Parts: sequence; structure tokens; C-alpha cells
Amino acid sequence: MSVSPLFPRLWQGILSHWGGVGETVEGCSGFHNLAGVPAELRSFFQQSYPRNHTFTLKEDRLVPTRRLAERVAQLAPQYPTPLTSLVDLSCSKGYFVFDAASRPGCRRALGVDIDLSCVQACRELAKNLVLPESVAFQQITLPELANRIDDFGGPFQTALLVNTYQYLRLGSEFAPGVGGSHRELFEWLGRICSGRLVFHNRLSFDDLQKSVQVRTPAHEAKDYSPKSILEAADEFFIVQSSTGDPLRPLLVLENRAAIPGRAAA
Ligand SMILES: C[S@@+](CC[C@H](N)C(=O)[O-])C[C@H]1O[C@@H](n2cnc3c(N)ncnc32)[C@H](O)[C@@H]1O
Repeated sequence: MSVSPLFPRLWQGILSHWGGVGETVEGCSGFHNLAGVPAELRSFFQQSYPRNHTFTLKEDRLVPTRRLAERVAQLAPQYPTPLTSLVDLSCSKGYFVFDAASRPGCRRALGVDIDLSCVQACRELAKNLVLPESVAFQQITLPELANRIDDFGGPFQTALLVNTYQYLRLGSEFAPGVGGSHRELFEWLGRICSGRLVFHNRLSFDDLQKSVQVRTPAHEAKDYSPKSILEAADEFFIVQSSTGDPLRPLLVLENRAAIPGRAAA
């Protein structure tokens, strides 16, 4: 493709942007016979909420939309090397779980969600994996998962919690919140994830969806702030990096138990 001499910088920026995402646009391999998946299920993965987590089923792979590919390109570099196990704590349509399972060395990938329709759809899709043994999906709450973590093979090296923390803490139209404090949530997260928690969520109450804001009592609203959330996290995790918008940071958190000499006081 020739580059317009009029706006060379602009074109180079656009092309390099697409090139960066292009690494993941190949998609997630490890499937067979995806052409045989029923149309209703295919359209669920292609079109349902959330729209930044949609993908197409090709014969042997899942091909993410550009928005999803960009999110994978942002989040996956935060995984430890090698990635050995991953739990996605709000797996939705499961792309991050399938993507993790396709990485060499990842022996276990679990997707959990409160939404049974998502869990069932992911389980159906997992039947087309060439090696389905390492992948599982479960409808379960965070405290139940923490209490039953040994039923799922024990704590995971890596956990993803993306665009969901506010629902866990404050509830949503789907389900009530869990736990009485940020501390309780991070205590559960520390039992579920023994290594790295990749945490990308809204930390400011004013930035939350209106549907969450209107149902939240004033004292809970006051306690939903970057300061309160990060203080609670600090008892169980060390912030290794924080990038992006401070109200919606991408945090890489390491379990203190995994770092010699860094247990909480
Ligand atoms: C915006 S989606 C994010 C999905 C996925 N993590 C991603 O980033 O693509 C929010 C997720 O939170 C889940 N959810 C909604 N309300 C919840 C609640 N009260 N407790 C736990 N999970 C909830 C939904 O089922 C959905 O998968």
C-alpha cells in the first residue's frame, strides 16, 4: 500500500496502530469445526453485550473485533511469563479465557461469571476446542469461588478482573453485590489469585454507570473512591504498575504472599 505524501505522519500512525493490533487479529486458535456451531450461538458471540467483547467464529479460530483485539493487546502483555494458569473473574463471552488457554504453558484456564447464559454459551463453544481439558466455565460468586478454590485446582497464578469491580462491590441489575467492604473483596481475591491480578476497573463513584449510582446508598457511595479501593488492595497486593486514566487505571497487582518479605504488616 502506498502512503499519501500529503499526511505521511498521519498515515504512518494509522498503519502502525493497525499493525500493533494485527498481532492479535489472527485470533485465538485451538478449535475445530467452528463452522458447525449453530447460528444462534454464533450471533451471541458476535453481537451481544458487552460490545467490546465480541468475536467471529472462523473454522479453527475466534477472530476478535478490533475493539476486543485492542483490549487483548493492552491486557495480555501484563500476564506473567510464562502464563501457567488464569481465571477471568467476569468472563462474559470467554475470549480472554480461550486466549489464555491457547498460550503455551497455560495448563488451566477458568472463566467465571454470574450470568448463566454466558457460562452456558462458553461451555458450548469449549466443546469445539481441540484440547478442552484445560478450560472450564462456572457460574459462581466471588466468595463461593474463594471458599471452593481447591475444587478448581487451587489458587490461580493470574487473575483478570476487568470492568466489573463496581458490580461486585455495589451490585447490578443482574445480582446484588457481595461482601460488606472493599477489604473483604480483596481478601477473597487474594485467596483466588496467588500471583498476579490484572485489575482494570472504574475507581471513582462519579464515573460509574448511572444504573449503579442510583441504587447505591450515600455511605457506600462515599466509600467508593480510588483511595479506599487502593488502601484495601494494599493489604493483600502490591501495586507493580498503574497506567492510564487514574480513575480507570490498569493496575498490575502482585499477591504479597508471593513476594518474600512483603507480607502485609
Ligand atoms: C461490562 S461486563 C465485563 C465483562 C468482561 N470482564 C470484559 O471486560 O469484557 C460486566 C460483567 O460483570 C458481570 N456482572 C454483572 N453484575 C454482576 C454482579 N452483581 N456480580 C458479579 N458479576 C456481575 C456481568 O455478567 C458481565 O460479565
